[in-house]
Amino acid sequence: MKVISTIADLRAALKLERRSGKTIGLVPTMGYLHVGHMTLVRQSRKSCDVTVASIFVNPTQFGPNEDLATYPRNLERDLKLLEAEGVDYVFTPDAAEIYRPGAETIVETTHLSRILMGRIRPGHFRGVTTVVSKLFNIVQPTQAFFGEKDYQQLAIIRRMVADLDIPVEIVGVPIMREADGLACSSRNAMLTPEDRNAAVVLSKSLAAAQALAAQGERSITAIRKAILTVLKAEPRGTVEAVDIRDAEDLSKVSGKFTKPVVVLLTVRFGKVRLIDQRVIG
Ligand code: PAJ
Repeated sequence: MKVISTIADLRAALKLERRSGKTIGLVPTMGYLHVGHMTLVRQSRKSCDVTVASIFVNPTQFGPNEDLATYPRNLERDLKLLEAEGVDYVFTPDAAEIYRPGAETIVETTHLSRILMGRIRPGHFRGVTTVVSKLFNIVQPTQAFFGEKDYQQLAIIRRMVADLDIPVEIVGVPIMREADGLACSSRNAMLTPEDRNAAVVLSKSLAAAQALAAQGERSITAIRKAILTVLKAEPRGTVEAVDIRDAEDLSKVSGKFTKPVVVLLTVRFGKVRLIDQRVIG
């Protein structure tokens, strides 16, 4: 496994791989890796000849009052995990390598980045699309792997790739969960033990929504109420958002749904913001 921190060195190495006809899989991450990230890596290893993982805590996707400074990091451990999975290249640039002096170009999906999580975190998705498009240009992957946990992020990246004709295939990978149902996340490490136990309400509330839908319930109001009942029963969590949207284009749905919908949750425990999602119907 080669660990490379400059764009020039990575490009040179990948040029040789491409010249010998190899397909390249890219797994972009912000590090502090867990089994969720590892499923993306495994999927890339299965479908592509060469796997590149990037570890970059991207400053432009954090707001001024967000957790950039405290975002968990452990490069040594991450590298061991990636090596054990058989990753070929790890790209570990610093912020100065990615954002050079004078840079002023941004990439933004003008609608999708402003709804849902984009309202709670203004500028967040602009940071994501800008850095991901740069990674696509640096690595020029055949396929790139993203988790369905970050449902809106995945939808935005698919939109960007379609709109800008970026020659990469986006592969969505299902959510990995802890034994009790909590979606694996680097931010779980920032929870107190009490909050960690309480955080199971997110997946519990989604299970309640799924159970109702399985009984034939199609009313958005009824499903939303069932979710809120479970979430509100846990006082440690502050509910920031419960959104039920069209699963395909994230448009608003009201009354009764006739096509699959996605339930998107954002719940805060102390300063830690957790998200989860489930497609129902
Ligand atoms: P990060 O939060 O490190 O996540 C990297 C990738 O892992 C994302 O595609 C995310 O959806 C996926 N992932 C996280 N938890 C998962 C889980 N429990 N199951 C399946 N996949 C999971 O998302 C980012 O970083 C950044 O925004 C990034 C795309 C790297 C741009 O900076």
